[in-house]
Amino acid sequence: MSVSSKAIILIGGPSKGTRMRPLTLDTPKPLFPIAGRPLIWHHIRALSKVHGITEVFLIGFYEDAVFAPFLKDVSREFKNLSVKYMREYQALGTAGGLYHFRDTILRGTPGQIFVLHADICCSFPLKELQDFHGTHRGLVSMLGVRVPKETASKYGCIVPDTQTKQVLHYVEKPEGFISDLINGGVYLLEAQGFFDAIRAAMVRKSQQETEDPYSYQDDLLRLEQDVVVPLCDDKKVFVYETLDFWRQIKSAGSALPANALYLNQYRTTNPEMLTKAKAGGPEIVEPVHIDATAQVDPSAKIGPSVSIGPGVMIGAGVRVKESIILDNVTVDKNAIVNNAIIAADCRIGAWARIEGEPLNPASVDDSPTKQTICILANNVTVARDVLVRCCIVLPQKTLTSNWWNEVLL
Ligand code: GTP
Repeated sequence: MSVSSKAIILIGGPSKGTRMRPLTLDTPKPLFPIAGRPLIWHHIRALSKVHGITEVFLIGFYEDAVFAPFLKDVSREFKNLSVKYMREYQALGTAGGLYHFRDTILRGTPGQIFVLHADICCSFPLKELQDFHGTHRGLVSMLGVRVPKETASKYGCIVPDTQTKQVLHYVEKPEGFISDLINGGVYLLEAQGFFDAIRAAMVRKSQQETEDPYSYQDDLLRLEQDVVVPLCDDKKVFVYETLDFWRQIKSAGSALPANALYLNQYRTTNPEMLTKAKAGGPEIVEPVHIDATAQVDPSAKIGPSVSIGPGVMIGAGVRVKESIILDNVTVDKNAIVNNAIIAADCRIGAWARIEGEPLNPASVDDSPTKQTICILANNVTVARDVLVRCCIVLPQKTLTSNWWNEVLL
């Protein structure tokens, strides 16, 4: 028997996603196109496949209007789901928003609630998580992922009981090494019990304020540190480890591996989203997504792991690989785009080369200046024959000479 459930995607707000700049200057990070679809479309697609979920809430602190067109699109596409945006009046923290909207979330007494971070890319094994949840008597099942040991301290680290999978110890971004099993940002919760735990965390926080009025307390209630950690101490949290793909999307550069992973996943889940080679068409090295309104010269070669957005024009002899090209970009003849993200309305001249190097998955520093991929923000013009290598180029720039390893303001 399936339990009625709802889902929440924590989408943050304009002050979040700063490491994705300059790509998020115009598009909020949750709507940044990855594999031809907004980042959180992939979350919603996965949720739409889970039997029993009827409502999905996006909780964040962006202006309402920002998500209106997206909500319209997904409501049309996923008819079995009602998807709504609920706006925090200010950043309330990853648990503060849940608490603020508790009455709406708990309306109709859902048995279970999925909570998903927006800034991840993964196969969302939600059915597996649901099955796992049925095997224990805890309040929370979280998705665990193994990462390279040297990167683990960037995440919430989990030490589970190897037999029961109960979480014995959880530390958010520890100073030293604790475990290479980390929190993947996907939870399944027992609704009532979990909201009682959030309320208890709220009470603890205000008690601290009363006891020590001079201690610094912000207005944020954090899901992991303030709610999940005490629940681990109460033996109420269990971890389901996935061996399938998972990546965090923090820096602009992490959009490229996410793009490659989702395109690869489409081979089995959404083959209709992939572009196949056609007689008389461009050479395609799969997987590739080319929007139906893009025009690609038959002598161009595209792929692997390339997404090309609406209205893009790709000229003769152009080579594009491992890249995302957004709306209305023009790439003139014989240009090369490799390991790059080209934002909307850019113009790339003939014989120009826009090139980066693949991201090292074990890299611990994902700050924008340490990125090796090449990023052109909106409306950049690159003149013919110009080489732009491993650069971040801010909006509206015109480049008429070669550049490498620079942030061009
Ligand atoms: P950082 O590395 O510091 O970014 O931490 P993290 O990876 O643990 O991520 P964080 O906890 O900041 O965010 C997890 C998810 O929650 C992301 O999708 C954020 O956009 C979202 N989020 C973060 N803060 C808030 C908040 O105050 N309100 C809401 N609704 N969402 C938030």
